[in-house]
Amino acid sequence: MKLISIVGARPQFVKLAPLIRAIEARKEVAGLEHLIVHTGQHYDVGLSDIFFQELEIPNPDFNLGIGSGLHGVQTGLMLNKIEQVLIEVVPNMVVVFGDTNSTLAGALAASKLHIAVAHVEAGLRSFNRSMPEEINRIVADHVSDLLLAPTVTAKENLEQERLGNRSVLTGDIMYEAVLLSRRIARSASSVLDRLMLSPGAYGLVTVHRAENTEDPARLASILNALNELASSDLPLIFPLHPRTADRISKCCSDWTAHARLRLIEPLGYFDMLQLLDNARVTLTDSGGLQKEAFFVGCPCVTLREKTEWNETVEGGGNMLVGADREKLFYSVERWKRQYPAGRANFSRSVRQYFGNKSAATAILKAISDFLQKSNSASSTTHDEGVCGDADN
Ligand code: UD1
Repeated sequence: MKLISIVGARPQFVKLAPLIRAIEARKEVAGLEHLIVHTGQHYDVGLSDIFFQELEIPNPDFNLGIGSGLHGVQTGLMLNKIEQVLIEVVPNMVVVFGDTNSTLAGALAASKLHIAVAHVEAGLRSFNRSMPEEINRIVADHVSDLLLAPTVTAKENLEQERLGNRSVLTGDIMYEAVLLSRRIARSASSVLDRLMLSPGAYGLVTVHRAENTEDPARLASILNALNELASSDLPLIFPLHPRTADRISKCCSDWTAHARLRLIEPLGYFDMLQLLDNARVTLTDSGGLQKEAFFVGCPCVTLREKTEWNETVEGGGNMLVGADREKLFYSVERWKRQYPAGRANFSRSVRQYFGNKSAATAILKAISDFLQKSNSASSTTHDEGVCGDADN
């Protein structure tokens, strides 16, 4: 059985890591060959290499070096190069993760070549089609053959779109990633010392989504609200995604961060987990960070109107505020009153919504069941074909 995983952006490296471990554990038994394609969508050391090192992911077998660009250009270049790899390797299955342009290109290239596609984190919907990620999710789900749903809601979304018969509920692979790494992060990361932070005495911020960064008025309103929050109330640490740094310098060049709003370089996975694990509150527009906050018990304020991870809201760990200053302040205050010690425990809801900690094993089993079934179906068809020929 030959599998190819296609990754390209930071959150995909995190999702790949537990799958690699599950594959390593079963490799001998199952005769599994696994190759990694890195599209190069993220290429900075801080957004890519550090994740491979920390999460002990083997070097990619193919690095396509695509880099940044307009969506059509970036996705088109990926399609072209992924297709070449797939023609060369002829895998039994391609595995894609999440909702980035690398997911879309991987799923499309494979399905056009009639290679089976498994989509990890299938069925997520924010019901906001202005997000590039929403389009990527929908298309990837509809061209994939095996839809690996992390939650019951995701599976129900797939059923609504008549994709239920291709879907399997596996639990959430990022939950497993957090469980694997949180303890290591506590001993390996020195980020609190380096930034001279005390546990519970700061908030953590990330902003990088196109809906927030591509609209200058909206970006300015978020940045001003963050400045105000930092100056009046809570010091904030803000690891800056390159896209956001670029937009700030181009569209908000007269804006300067308050001294208590600290803009820093992007962080590796362990540093980020450790910062999250000790933050009083997190403010973010990232899908992954909303979930990670829920897993570690950090109350979250989401700088978006809608989320594909409604479970974190239903489970009492997340509030959606968009770019609205009043709502942002109200939410931070509410979290501080509700959790004066700065820590919550959502573990019952986490288990209820995101499954136990063996999503990677469930994913691998679903893949191997799928391949066995298609194998026996094709050998039956083949046998029938041979009989038919003889009859003629
Ligand atoms: C992508 C995903 C998003 C995911 C995010 C995680 C899509 C449509 N979006 O967004 O869903 O949440 O990754 O970070 O696929 N850049 C660098 N160095 C890098 C990578 C990017 O400087 O290593 C800069 C470039 O200026 C680029 C911009 O960031 O133009 C955007 O990068 P891109 O990968 O297109 O999208 P992300 O914003 O990272």
